Amino acid sequence: MEEKEIQTWIKKAIKAREHAYAPYSKFLVGAVLMDETGREYTGVNVENTSYGLSSCAERNSIFSAVAQGMKKIALLCVVGDTEEPICPCGACRQVILEFATQDTKIILSNLQGKYEIYSIDDLLPKAFFVKRD
Ligand code: THU
Repeated sequence: MEEKEIQTWIKKAIKAREHAYAPYSKFLVGAVLMDETGREYTGVNVENTSYGLSSCAERNSIFSAVAQGMKKIALLCVVGDTEEPICPCGACRQVILEFATQDTKIILSNLQGKYEIYSIDDLLPKAFFVKRD
């Protein structure tokens, strides 16, 4: 992927992040997802006064995309205000795996556009996965 294209995805995720609802942690996260047909979806973290009910931007982007017909993730870009590129939590990695392929590109970035690109195998090696037809 070209540098310019990567930075465009990061900008889209930063824009999505404006809608994050994180009054408890104050840690705002934005995600943008593209499916195998080229359709785009966004997600943000949504927290709750009952803290354990909070949901991450990555999972919210995936659940929203599935609700609108997404089958496979071509690309997922996540941003947060971190020194190094943000790292998805373990639960999100497992949910990404469910809809990822070998070709799925996962761009992790901070707000300055410092990024790393991974596959789901990089992020979740030796994953639990039950094959189905
Ligand atoms: N969070 C995300 O949305 N994605 C991540 O990759 C890391 C953590 C959220 C969960 C919670 O709302 C806040 O960030 C602090 O953990």
